[in-house]
Amino acid sequence: MAQNKTILRALAGEVQDVPPIWMMRQAGRYLPEYRATRAQAGDFLSLCYNSELAAEVTLQPIRRYGFDAAILFADILLVPQALGADLWFVTGEGPRLSTVTTQADFDALKPAADIHDRLNPIYETVRLLSHALPAETTLIGFAGAPWTVATYMIAGRGTPDQGPAHALRQENRALFEALLERITEATIDYLSMQIDAGAEVVKIFDSWAGSLKGADFQTYAVDPCRRIVSALKERHPSIPIIGFAREAGDAYVGFAKATGVDCVALDSAVDPEWAAAHVQVDGCVQGNLASSHMVTGGQDLIDDTRAIVKAFSKGPHIFNLGHGITPDADPENVQLMIDTVRSTRR
Ligand code: CP3
Repeated sequence: MAQNKTILRALAGEVQDVPPIWMMRQAGRYLPEYRATRAQAGDFLSLCYNSELAAEVTLQPIRRYGFDAAILFADILLVPQALGADLWFVTGEGPRLSTVTTQADFDALKPAADIHDRLNPIYETVRLLSHALPAETTLIGFAGAPWTVATYMIAGRGTPDQGPAHALRQENRALFEALLERITEATIDYLSMQIDAGAEVVKIFDSWAGSLKGADFQTYAVDPCRRIVSALKERHPSIPIIGFAREAGDAYVGFAKATGVDCVALDSAVDPEWAAAHVQVDGCVQGNLASSHMVTGGQDLIDDTRAIVKAFSKGPHIFNLGHGITPDADPENVQLMIDTVRSTRR
């Protein structure tokens, strides 16, 4: 039953003795069972589009650790691919895409309504998971935020400063905004289909929100997020939504009210005491342990984990890392983090 799920209770604003836990990238290369299934699938994208195997890797960290939530195994760059961009991954380097920098590139993209043929296997993964997960585990769907997805579509790859996307915004604002609009429409439809298939929560990843400053943060991070949230809540009034505006800094303050998200995911750059006073006052927060602790472990991991649990103990909190776990992490440190969270007196 929904109200027995600890993640849904936190998202509804309940303060719990022990915060529920999950971890960004919890299905990933640090786990030997993930590497084995990925090898079976062939490569990363084949794994994303193979519903049975994608469901299997989603379940692996649930079996191993008993996390309170499972996050759909997929990628934020599947939406650009469904819009018609070429997408491939270069081992050891990351994603590559065909670029959108001219009107002709934009005109070659598909309408948002045409993404579902390509994305149907993802909805099937969600359906499989909604039947396979333990009764107490919450299923989280996700998509990238329009700005973050656009940075990859414009540059054709990950960039340290999102320079190509900022340049297009300045040189051809109409084209830049048309691209954001197309991604926004596709994202609303994509998340809505995940919810129809059984996702109980959705999360919007704006991993590069931190490079938008001042009025641009409002226009290109807050406004698209608010549009996605209000469209989803119109179609699915009770769906809780988590917003992750990574490296937003002071702009985390007021983000929940401005966008309508039910929970603000915090990176590890923000001090938990500060975030409790200025962000958690508006509702549930998620985060914010540094993922480097999953590599280094030891007493520092225990101390920082306890400090975060205590700092957020007076309000609704979902324990998580501040960003995804990295491939060099030690699976035993994940267990140490979980044991520490569950044994810390609030
Ligand atoms: O959290 C989860 O476990 C759910 C699955 C998930 C993945 N990517 C799987 C993945 C989610 C939510 C994402 C989001 C994602 N993807 C983001 C936003 C969040 C963030 O981390 O900032 C971004 C920017 C991407 C784009 C992307 N996908 C990059 C830059 C890379 C390469 C990075 C790398 O470490 O090689 C990916 C690949 C990717 N997505 C992997 C996984 C498990 C590693 C792929 C592999 O097995 O080789």
